[in-house]
Amino acid sequence: MVAAKRAREGSFVDNMSLPMHRWFRYSAGFSASWAEALLRERAGRGPVRVLDPFVGSGTTLLAADAAGVESVGLEAHPFVHRVAAAKLARGVDPDALRETAEALIDRARRSRARADEPPALIAKCFAPPTLAALERLRRAYLAARDDGPEGALIWLAITSILRPCANVGTAQWQYVLPNRAKARALEPYDALRDRVAMFADDLGAAPPRRSRLELADAREPGLHAGSLGRFDLVLTSPPYPNNYDYADATRLEMTFWREVERWADLHGAVRRHLIRSCSQHSAADKLGLEELLDAAPIAPIRDELARVTRELEALRVERDGRKTYHTMVAAYFVDLARVLATLRALTREDAELCLVIGDSAPYGVHVPVEAWLARLATSVGFGAHRFEKLRDRNTRWKNRKHRVPLHEGRLWIAG
Ligand SMILES: C[S@@+](CC[C@H](N)C(=O)[O-])C[C@H]1O[C@@H](n2cnc3c(N)ncnc32)[C@H](O)[C@@H]1O
Repeated sequence: MVAAKRAREGSFVDNMSLPMHRWFRYSAGFSASWAEALLRERAGRGPVRVLDPFVGSGTTLLAADAAGVESVGLEAHPFVHRVAAAKLARGVDPDALRETAEALIDRARRSRARADEPPALIAKCFAPPTLAALERLRRAYLAARDDGPEGALIWLAITSILRPCANVGTAQWQYVLPNRAKARALEPYDALRDRVAMFADDLGAAPPRRSRLELADAREPGLHAGSLGRFDLVLTSPPYPNNYDYADATRLEMTFWREVERWADLHGAVRRHLIRSCSQHSAADKLGLEELLDAAPIAPIRDELARVTRELEALRVERDGRKTYHTMVAAYFVDLARVLATLRALTREDAELCLVIGDSAPYGVHVPVEAWLARLATSVGFGAHRFEKLRDRNTRWKNRKHRVPLHEGRLWIAG
């Protein structure tokens, strides 16, 4: 029982039954109840300001608002940032929101405008009547030109019904499988009405907002205490070096909104802003291993990082010659070392860091993520650390099976 509860603390699953958190299923998220309990406990000891430099769908900020704690969140993925911003939108009257949604549905139903040719991915994912309704909703939303909090909520409501309305495999936040048929797809107008009703119900109980959300890159050394203030606690989950492509994970939604046209656009629109944690990223950037290993911030782990990444480079040649895991892993630690240096500048002397993190094993080569992050943290001036395991994990490396036992847990680092 206790073990099962702990295992869920690193995962988003329980968030789907919590007000506001349930508005968008972000499988990269961690447990909101755990975050809120931690923040309440810390706030009970004295004033606390919390920073989440990888805020994702906004779990930490919503939990901080609920706990009455001041917080700042950074997110570099423009689409994910917009999701979090909508979840944090306040000052909207629930009844007015329902009425706006009804008016939008009505305008969409009555629209006779000719649809433009949808992008190929979108055409593949929806049955023709569903697609027609979604396109009408999209155009009606854009025509309303509402950049305020109500517009943000309507945008999120439409965005969040896309996957449930698709008649092909679109597992939440996984890659779209246009050739796999799905048994049940929702009707868009009903789905939107239900979503907005849920948003309106939750808004009634929303706590006052004390959080601040920024579209920003956590690696940025320009992020300093002058603009953000100093923090007592960093509560976050960075990307893991496990080849999860946060850009591809949002391809369906971004294509629907015409923010990207094809897969190749994802790099410029999203991936280049993010921590380099997937091989698509390091391949597109044509990174050189030796140059990465020369980077000053990774000095404390250089020898071990060089051994692991050179092994990956050799396996790449031996196996399939495609996946650039060697430069991905090296770039990942260069990036995280930069983030840790930025965090040192942003935190008080006696601050505490809690990183929810997992290790990885590309091509079956173990990457001891928490041990290396702890060493990098020490080198930029943080203190003692301990790792609290939450669960064992087997990543699903697509092309190759490996038997390396993996885990996920919390890396606690003292200021
Ligand atoms: C593991 S997820 C965090 C999920 C979050 N805890 C939640 O509950 O929704 C990591 C997030 O870091 C974001 N990210 C990646 N690189 C970043 C960067 N350089 N700066 C800020 N955010 C970044 C990703 O877009 C992703 O949303």
